[in-house]
Amino acid sequence: MRVLGIETSCDETGVAVYDSEQGLLAHTLYSQVAVHAEYGGVVPELASRDHVRKLLPLIREVLADANTTSADIGGIAYTAGPGLIGALMVGASMGRSLAYAWQVPAVGVHHMEGHLLAPMLEENPPEFPFVALLVSGGHTQLVEVKSIGQYRILGESLDDAAGEAFDKAAKMLDLDYPGGPEIARLATQGDTSRFKFPRPMTDRPGLDFSFSGLKTYTLNTIAKHRGDDVLPDDQTMADIACAFQEAVVDTLAIKCRRALEQTGLRTLIIAGGVSANTRLREKLSDSLAKVNGEIFYARHEFCTDNGAMIAYAGCQRLLAGQQEALTIRAIPRWPMDTLPPLTAV
Ligand code: KG4
Ligand code: ZN
Repeated sequence: MRVLGIETSCDETGVAVYDSEQGLLAHTLYSQVAVHAEYGGVVPELASRDHVRKLLPLIREVLADANTTSADIGGIAYTAGPGLIGALMVGASMGRSLAYAWQVPAVGVHHMEGHLLAPMLEENPPEFPFVALLVSGGHTQLVEVKSIGQYRILGESLDDAAGEAFDKAAKMLDLDYPGGPEIARLATQGDTSRFKFPRPMTDRPGLDFSFSGLKTYTLNTIAKHRGDDVLPDDQTMADIACAFQEAVVDTLAIKCRRALEQTGLRTLIIAGGVSANTRLREKLSDSLAKVNGEIFYARHEFCTDNGAMIAYAGCQRLLAGQQEALTIRAIPRWPMDTLPPLTAV
């Protein structure tokens, strides 16, 4: 089955064609980063409008790249949630309507399930069961994954998501949005030994996270080293970025190890924007090597939002016979553990 995938949940318009026999045929991404940059974060209304402008031309482009016409498409997958309601509505309306026009089934995909399955697009995909660390701008979750649709949330953030914490810390350091890659870049020039930031909630049992205290700690450290109206010197800024990144990454690594111990599993996948972080990958590889564990992640461009992961996840559900009714479904808040399991018809 050949599936057109559409992602419009936030500030990236992603489109892809995935074929269950031949794999990923084409994908493209338009990032709205420049549109939102001057506001220091995503402006929902601007995001929706930009998706409207870009989606159809991108669909045409991807179909051409995949050497595919609408007649070859067997189903359409679009992100139904969670995300910004206006942005979701653009992809949902387009996906559902095109499927109606082309007389093929449509399926609404859970954005985080898309992330979770993105490592399946790689040459050496993980095998079920595994533990997944989902770390994006909106979510930080540890999930026990038995198979597609069989998810047990082991722990999650009680406040800010890991990506959100990166973005907020970056703002304090006067870095651009999105902050994750900016902090990672600045941290390479930092001295790991100068500041030691706390590893929140690691000194007590459990698999939940909290990153808001780390934000305050970062703010206080900056305040302590700044002059009147001026930020600390460049080296201090790099040292703070480094200490912040080490603290987040260490905290995530400690909880991942704990989740593997608790479930008795040896395979970990990491997914979502923050899984692109090189330091996180290094830390987890080291940590898992000690317990004979294995780590999997998607290639860089499929860690952050993209259409390929939606096309893949949707294809699996369409193949199992799941599809939408003739309604446009967009769900801004949607717990992942309420998804139906994937049972073939
Ligand atoms: O998955 P994603 O593209 O969108 C959401 O579903 O939220 O994740 C975006 C988040 C942003 O907060 C961004 O700062 C973060 O992922 N991110 C990173 C890196 N690349 C993106 N955080 C840390 N290190 C990175 N290299
Ligand atoms: Zn995402």
